[in-house]
Amino acid sequence: MVINKKINSLRAFEILDSRGIPTVNVHVCLENGASGSASVPSGASTGEREAHERRDGDLFRYHGKGTEKVCRDIEEKILPFIKGIDAGEQMLLDERLLALDGSENKEVFGANALLAVSLATARACANTYGLPLYRYLGGLYGASVRPIPMMNILNGGRHAENNIDIQEFMIVPIGADSFSEAVRIGSEIYHALRELLKKRGLSVSVGDEGGFAPNLNRDEDALDFLTEAIETAGYNTDSVGIALDVAASEWEKDGRYVLPKRALSQTCEELIGKFEMLCVNYPILSLEDPLGEHDREGWKTITEKLGKRIMLVGDDLFVTNRKLLAHGILEGLANAVLVKPNQIGTLTETMYTVRLAQENGYRVILSHRSGETCDSFISDLAVAVGAQFLKAGAPARGERVAKYNRLLKIEKTF
Ligand code: PGA
Ligand code: ZN
Repeated sequence: MVINKKINSLRAFEILDSRGIPTVNVHVCLENGASGSASVPSGASTGEREAHERRDGDLFRYHGKGTEKVCRDIEEKILPFIKGIDAGEQMLLDERLLALDGSENKEVFGANALLAVSLATARACANTYGLPLYRYLGGLYGASVRPIPMMNILNGGRHAENNIDIQEFMIVPIGADSFSEAVRIGSEIYHALRELLKKRGLSVSVGDEGGFAPNLNRDEDALDFLTEAIETAGYNTDSVGIALDVAASEWEKDGRYVLPKRALSQTCEELIGKFEMLCVNYPILSLEDPLGEHDREGWKTITEKLGKRIMLVGDDLFVTNRKLLAHGILEGLANAVLVKPNQIGTLTETMYTVRLAQENGYRVILSHRSGETCDSFISDLAVAVGAQFLKAGAPARGERVAKYNRLLKIEKTF
């Protein structure tokens, strides 16, 4: 029986993300009556080469960050161009979206607009077949691996108003037997950390991704707190590792690194030396963006020095862009890629990047953004592509736990 899955109509909505800044939600309806909806997130420490996130620019609304016009264009200009496309032809749909935009970096409609349409259509198609999204995206054999969560429990950098330069301190329960056990371990450590901070009279208010944001003197203090929290929760550093997102592109200035909150200027070699020391003294298994996105020599050096021992993750370096990843692979930069669909703007392009990474032995980490919604598309996508890790913030705050909760459910119904 042939099922009619043609796109019939859509609505686009200006909604708020977790920081209270507008973003885009799209609801796509097919001729068969099935529908799907998707919301896009938004970053704060964005890579320079990310696809364009379009905003209205009307300073009288949301300080220019509104998305009303973006949504209007989705309904008035994008829909007529994609109406009648079979929702199962995701590649065709995404090609059409790219052709309609026609610009190098999706400046015309915005990656936020294109991605919302792309993802909502995939959901509508999955719903047509009555399939869970991960199964529709991954097929029978594609969806068999459950990612390990990387939980950001201590925040600094641009995600917190404290004096810590490194953006994210994450715990990674590598020894857990299941996803649900990993979540439990992560949550127990998160609460152990809360108690430790309280006992020392430090703030337990949280940053954008739900991790605590205390004022500490040095990055090492944060790492000491993490290892202590792991131990007081009853675990050891063999079963729970630490991952850092340095977000060092934010520090890059005239060939040096200026740590923003301490006004300290360092060379690339000094910074690499510091990371080498941290890896000796702490159970660090992954460093994301340890160097800036322009520092290709530095990336090469750090990959040679540390790439055999730990994961070196390119976020701003690759921005989920297949071409940038291909260059990086050729030059020997990093050994893992952070995948954020809104950095590139369509599902198909995201999939191509994942595939290229996997074909070249790069680990794949599906990731949220610091400005999120409760959409959990990335959880299904992580399962579908067999990503080794999922990075979705602290095990707290609705928009963060939405991702973990979705995986808890997937695990139970596998
Ligand atoms: P962003 O940060 O979502 O604010 O860009 C997340 C990250 O750097 O991984
Ligand atoms: Zn990052």
